[in-house]
Amino acid sequence: MIPRIYIPGDSGALALGAEKVAKAIAGELAERGIEAKIVRNGSRGAYFLEPMVEVATANGRVAYGPVKPSDVKSLFDGGFLTGGHHKRWLGSPDKIPFFAKQTRLTFARCGVTDPLSLESYKKHGGLNGLTNALALTPADIVAQVTESGLRGRGGAGFPTGIKWKTVLDTVGDRKYIVCNADEGDSGTFADRMIMEGDPFVLIEGMTIAGIATGATKGFVYIRSEYPHAVAVMNKAVEIARKAGVLGASVLGSAYAFDMEIRVGAGAYVCGEETALLDSLEGKRGMVRAKPPLPAHKGLFGKPTVINNVISLASVPVIMDKGAAFYKDFGMGRSRGTIPIQIAGNVKYAGLFEAAFGMTLGEIVDEIGGGTATGRPVKAVQVGGPLGAYFPRALFDTPFDYEAFAAKDGLIGHAGIVVFDDTADMLKQARFALEFCAIESCGKCTPCRIGSTRGVETIDRIAAGIEPEKNLALVTDLCNTMKFGSLCALGGFTPYPVMSSITHFPDDFKPAPVRVAAE
Ligand SMILES: Cc1cc2nc3c(=O)[nH]c(=O)nc-3n(C[C@H](O)[C@H](O)[C@H](O)COP(=O)(O)O)c2cc1C
Ligand code: SF4
Repeated sequence: MIPRIYIPGDSGALALGAEKVAKAIAGELAERGIEAKIVRNGSRGAYFLEPMVEVATANGRVAYGPVKPSDVKSLFDGGFLTGGHHKRWLGSPDKIPFFAKQTRLTFARCGVTDPLSLESYKKHGGLNGLTNALALTPADIVAQVTESGLRGRGGAGFPTGIKWKTVLDTVGDRKYIVCNADEGDSGTFADRMIMEGDPFVLIEGMTIAGIATGATKGFVYIRSEYPHAVAVMNKAVEIARKAGVLGASVLGSAYAFDMEIRVGAGAYVCGEETALLDSLEGKRGMVRAKPPLPAHKGLFGKPTVINNVISLASVPVIMDKGAAFYKDFGMGRSRGTIPIQIAGNVKYAGLFEAAFGMTLGEIVDEIGGGTATGRPVKAVQVGGPLGAYFPRALFDTPFDYEAFAAKDGLIGHAGIVVFDDTADMLKQARFALEFCAIESCGKCTPCRIGSTRGVETIDRIAAGIEPEKNLALVTDLCNTMKFGSLCALGGFTPYPVMSSITHFPDDFKPAPVRVAAE
């Protein structure tokens, strides 16, 4: 059997030098006259170990990482093709603590299989969910998804089954499935990782959504900053079409479903579902007033399911293993697993899929290993640029939609960004308002004007001008934005601002006091 070497082609791994490592390995193989198959897999998500190279041995996979091109010669000398020891030796990937502690349902294949091999996908359980779905009525598929407790992973946590039922129950000569892959939240990369590492799972999830709701066409709206994901998804759609997974007769059934990949417009607000639909229709991405809901009148005025990548990619495992299996994971009304993306100033950055319920402290301190700088953690922003900053005092909060909401926070797309004690929370609050001012679509006044007035007011606090009066003004402004904005961009910007003020009041004190405190 010729040796198999796995080198991630994932853009995170590429950014860390995977391409140079691949070239060095290919060169070394040629020089030594060794025949081997190089598979460009996705990343398993431990970016602190990337580029992580794996070899298939008689005793299973053996991983090495982070591998540098200069390591390659000695890896061969040390017999890495048969799992030989080396300073980069990590052993079986399944036993590396970062992976061993995870519950991989949605990301089960990511980093394991060849992303563009349908054979490899099927060998690892791919298409089981779709096959099962084809044996059910659309209403039964929707019932399964509802029963699983799956909630939207894009941010709002809306029950996926209920959304699908609305589209199923709405009459339309044409219906659409739109996948939101705009992934604009800071510190998030789960959508990118799965599209690059296991694209067929998204295709399978979207196809099941189409069959369940009567939609025959799907679009994936991928952010323009993800050229690798766009390329992989385009290739995967082509392969799926040729194999009869997509097309006029899905897996030989009476159902038709096909899909297209579209590149996003490069604006954060285009991730908001109605602005995304405008953008997809070729217009400038502006938020639409609701009603009508996209489920009633969405893309081109037709009933439309719009779901995040991870929501859709979680459906195949639900349809494969059953709603009860999926529902068994998690806590409260947050069922199943969630891919937590650990980023920022953290020692072990990466994607960690776990059942809902781990505390924020466990994620940051135990899984993330604390800060990369070794300084104390000061704040963690959870849920992207619109998420609250949590201080250490709130580290006992479990990862659960309701628990975070109860502490004036949100889970969002499950990105967490860690800051050490050098972070200036006044600057972070200013950044939140500035970000909102830059990204605002401009449709409503609280967001369009409020964000700019907010930046000015924070600047006055920083300059020591009537700080108490201006703090009260920011609070008042945040209330207006929270309750008066048309969408969550203006409506949630108050979360990072108010959490900074509430949990880190010293950072908002006039400069002399702040210097004295330091
Ligand atoms: C400003 C703004 C940006 C958003 N960006 C994204 C995004 O990048 N990806 C995403 O899936 N949802 C995003 N959302 C949430 C979507 O509007 C919508 O709730 C989601 O696509 C629905 O899918 P889900 O139910 O599967 O989560 C954003 C919302 C707002 C207000
Ligand atoms: S809150 Fe901001 S982004 Fe949302 S509709 Fe209003 S102006 Fe547009």
